[in-house]
Amino acid sequence: MPIPDPLLLVEDDVSVRSTLTTFLDLEGYQVEAVSSTRAALEKLSLRPYPIVISDIYLDERTGLDVLRAAKQVNADCRVILMSARGSMETVMAATRGGAFEYLAKPFELDDLLAAIHKAEAELAGSQAQDRETDIDDLPETEMIGSSTRMIEIYKTLSQVAPTDASVLITGETGTGKELIARLIHSHSKRLPGPFVPVDCGSIAPSLIEAELFGALKGSYTGADRDRTGVFEAANKGTVFLDEIGEIDGPFQLKLLRFLQEREVRPVGANRSRAVDVRIVAATNRDLQKMVEDGRFREDLWFRLNVVRIQLPPLRERRTDVPLLAHFFLRKYNERYDREAVLTAGGLQLLEEQHWPGNVRQLQHLLERLVILSSNGRIDAAAVRDGLEDSSGADPVSGESLKETEREQILKVLEATGNNKSRAAKILGIERKTLYRKLERLGLE
Ligand SMILES: Nc1ncnc2c1ncn2[C@@H]1O[C@H](COP(=O)(O)OP(=O)(O)OP(=O)(O)O)[C@@H](O)[C@H]1O
Ligand SMILES: [Mg+2]
Repeated sequence: MPIPDPLLLVEDDVSVRSTLTTFLDLEGYQVEAVSSTRAALEKLSLRPYPIVISDIYLDERTGLDVLRAAKQVNADCRVILMSARGSMETVMAATRGGAFEYLAKPFELDDLLAAIHKAEAELAGSQAQDRETDIDDLPETEMIGSSTRMIEIYKTLSQVAPTDASVLITGETGTGKELIARLIHSHSKRLPGPFVPVDCGSIAPSLIEAELFGALKGSYTGADRDRTGVFEAANKGTVFLDEIGEIDGPFQLKLLRFLQEREVRPVGANRSRAVDVRIVAATNRDLQKMVEDGRFREDLWFRLNVVRIQLPPLRERRTDVPLLAHFFLRKYNERYDREAVLTAGGLQLLEEQHWPGNVRQLQHLLERLVILSSNGRIDAAAVRDGLEDSSGADPVSGESLKETEREQILKVLEATGNNKSRAAKILGIERKTLYRKLERLGLE
C-alpha cells in the first residue's frame, strides 16, 4: 500500500517530469513535482518527505544538494537519484551522501516503482523502531545549513572525520562547535568508542590535571579514592576539550607533553600508561592572538591546530536562517505537541536579526515562540515580542505587562515540567533572573 505522504519529484525535463508524475499517479501516489533545486529546497524546508526522487544535473545546484537537504530535514528520507550522465564520481558522491538508490537513465518505469516499494518497506521497519525511542533522549546530531560556508565545512568534516588528526574548532558562541565535535566523532572509525566532553573553562586550574590524567587516592586533599582521568576513560574514543583557551600555562605544558607522548601519569602515580584518544578542541577566543600575546603556547597551538574548522556566525550565512527556523519549529512543535506555523513576515524578521548568540539564540527563541504561540501563528509581532524578551531588557512595569510575563513564565515552566534551568534558557534569561522574577511575581 503506498505511503500517504506525497513523494517529492525534482526533474527539470518537462516531458520526463510529466511521464513520471502520470505514472506514479496511476500507481496511487500523490506527487509534488518541481523543476528546480530552488523549488525543491523550498519544499523541503516546509515539511519532511519520506521519499524524494531527483534528477542529478538540474541547474546551478544538483540532485546531490537536494539529497543533502532532504537528509537534513529528515535523516530517514529515502532519496532516489537518477541521471543520464552518471560517472563514478557522481555515483560515489550519491552513495556517500546517503542516496537510497541510483537509477541510470533511461530506466524502466518498473525499476523506479521497485525502488519506491523497497524504500517503503524500509521506512515501515524504521518507523516501528522509532516509536521506541524518545526524542528528548537523543543528543542533537543534525547539522542544518546549506549555505556555501556550511557546504565547505561539511566537506572538511567528511575528509577529516575518518582520520585521527587533531581538530581545532573555532567560532562565536552558539555557532555549533560542540555539534561539529560530536559529528567528527560519530563519523570516525572510533565508534562505538566514547565521546567525552570536558569544559576546560569550568574546572578549577588546580583540579584539571586530576580530572584529565586521573589521581591516586590521597594524592591531593579530597582525593579519597583512586580516580580515573578523562583521557583514560576515553580510551579508543574522542576527548572534546571545550574552551581550550581557558587553560593556564602549567597545564598547557602538561597537555603538550600528553599530545607528544600519548601517555598519562595519574597524579601521585609513578608510572605512565599509554592511551589512545583523539583530541578535538574548541574555543570562541582568538587563540592565534593569544599565541602572539604569549598567553597560549605556540607549540601546543600547532599540535591542536592540525586541522581547523572555523564556524561562521549566523549573520554571515543568513540564507540558512529559514532552514534552521523551520527545523526548530518542527522539532518543538513535535516536542510540545503544538501546530504553530511561522508566517512569511515572522520569518523575514528572523532573517534580519544580528544573532549575537547565533544558532543557539535562534533555537531558544523558536522554542519559546512555539510554547507561547496561543493562536498557532508566529508572525512578525510575535517574533518581535520574543526578541525583546530575550534582549535582557529588565522588569516590565505596568500591571498588564506583568500579567503577560507571569503567564509566559507559567507556560514555559509547565512545558518544561518545572525544570527551572531549561525554562530560563527558553525564556532567554539567566537562572538567577528567573528566580528573581518568580519571587517578584509571587510564584515561588
Ligand atoms: N547548524 C546547526 N544545525 C542545527 N542545530 C545547530 C546548528 N548549530 C548549532 N546548533 C544547535 O545550537 C546549539 C548550540 O550549539 P553548540 O553547543 O554546538 O554551540 P557552541 O559553538 O559550542 O557554543 P558555545 O561556544 O557557547 O559553547 C545546540 O543546541 C546545537 O545543537
Ligand atoms: Mg560549546
